[in-house]
Amino acid sequence: MTFPALTDLPEWKRFVLVAQACAPREDGLDLIEAPGLTLDSSGQRHSAELLAAGEALLAARQFSTQRARLFAGEPVNTTEHRAAWHTALRALRSPEGVLSERERMDAFVRKADAERRWRHIVHIGIGGSDWGVRLAVSAFGYAGTWREVRSVANIDGHAIEGGLAGLDPRHTLVVLVSKSFTTAETLQNGARAREWLQAAGLDPAAHMVAVTAKPERARAWGIPDEQIFHLWDWVGGRFSVWSAVSLTTALSVGADVLAGLRMGAAAMDEHFLHAPLSVNAPVRMALAGVVNRSILGHGSLNIAPYDSRLANLVPYVQQLDMESLGKSVDLAGRPVGVPTGPAVWGMPGTDAQHTFFQWMHQGSDGAPVDFIVCRQADHHWPTHHRQLLANCLAQREALMRGKTLDQARAECLAEGLDAAQADALAPHRVHPGGRANHLVVLPRLSPYSLGALLALYEHRVFTQGLIWGIDPFDQWGVEYGKVLARDIVGELQGDTAQPVHDVSTRHWITELKR
Ligand code: F6P
Repeated sequence: MTFPALTDLPEWKRFVLVAQACAPREDGLDLIEAPGLTLDSSGQRHSAELLAAGEALLAARQFSTQRARLFAGEPVNTTEHRAAWHTALRALRSPEGVLSERERMDAFVRKADAERRWRHIVHIGIGGSDWGVRLAVSAFGYAGTWREVRSVANIDGHAIEGGLAGLDPRHTLVVLVSKSFTTAETLQNGARAREWLQAAGLDPAAHMVAVTAKPERARAWGIPDEQIFHLWDWVGGRFSVWSAVSLTTALSVGADVLAGLRMGAAAMDEHFLHAPLSVNAPVRMALAGVVNRSILGHGSLNIAPYDSRLANLVPYVQQLDMESLGKSVDLAGRPVGVPTGPAVWGMPGTDAQHTFFQWMHQGSDGAPVDFIVCRQADHHWPTHHRQLLANCLAQREALMRGKTLDQARAECLAEGLDAAQADALAPHRVHPGGRANHLVVLPRLSPYSLGALLALYEHRVFTQGLIWGIDPFDQWGVEYGKVLARDIVGELQGDTAQPVHDVSTRHWITELKR
């Protein structure tokens, strides 16, 4: 394969030189109006020269061709020879089967609503079969919904125990979501739910539905055909929120929410496809992300949604970003040669301010931040929203502006300290500033805006993957641990611990055998 190594590209070398020479921006507004949101990149390194170098780098990576291949459903997931065609799930003209499956799901929801059926939904799925539902349900059902949703993902028995506790099995629907229908957590938790239904004298088949790309496995597991909703092999798990994976969302906060999410994402798709690169929100975020990670060496990215309804955006983006960009060899199997995807972490503000923002302001590393905030709230307490907005802007300003030793000392003197006291305290009050950030402003938390936001992140991830030359659509690292866990389960049950394990693992297999 003649895939050029990133570090051999003259366009990369130029991008690095220009980025290194580019000062953190404190002045100069850098706004992009994209569908459903405004992106403010004023807190990132930026100059006309850096943008030109970024555009040249993208051209060297055949950005337009590769983007077109993504949208055409070509096999952009090269290690698994598969498409990653999530955009087709929200496109106006979807491929065959997508609309009819959506109609089947909507009909199921309409019927359940008309019959006022299923007071409780137990959603069983993990990773991409879980986070999108948790995110949408907490974003739009934060004040409670008629149907109570319990999400169960973890293999830890406490998760399913808590997930079922107190529910009335007669009024419970179990939604089993697994693209592969082989995921141990989901099948084990599903089996416990099935036993729970049986113990109540109910027919599990009447209380369970499945969403999967492997209907034959769901059928063999005992789910009737008419209760199996289909996924496609060409949808990656972490990109599947646009599909029937979100059946629970539709049952809980309405099919309209899903339609809105898809519309917002489709609008962002159009923006990504057609906006010039200089005002293309996912592209600009990706270029900034590459500068922060590969050139400035920031090992992590903080997601700070100033909206408590978006708490689950953090793990959602975490999976999207880290499962996609947590690779260090390129498509030709060579080391990429520069650091790739950062660790993604975060928490809603203002909680985050009282938890780890100290580290962000004055720690030795700091991290780039994506601040996300809604212009308008949906509650009726303007004071709260004003304070939330103020906190978001203030934290961001402090991170960008910083505070010099002279300023800190003057501040101490103004507070009445004497010169010696001011000299002693001032160094502790210095803030380095210049911390990179984006601010994303949504008009309000509508399904349209959230859909656009999620697609913004998807395309940002795709573009970074392309620059680094990695496959953002596979996840071989997850597989390795899964295989080892299968062996260890057998060994904990009584099989002899294999000599292949290290000494400590062997010790604990023996010690924890049950
Ligand atoms: O974590 C690995 C992974 O394969 C994810 O990519 C996926 O979202 C999750 O497991 C669940 O997979 P499935 O939907 O096949 O159960």
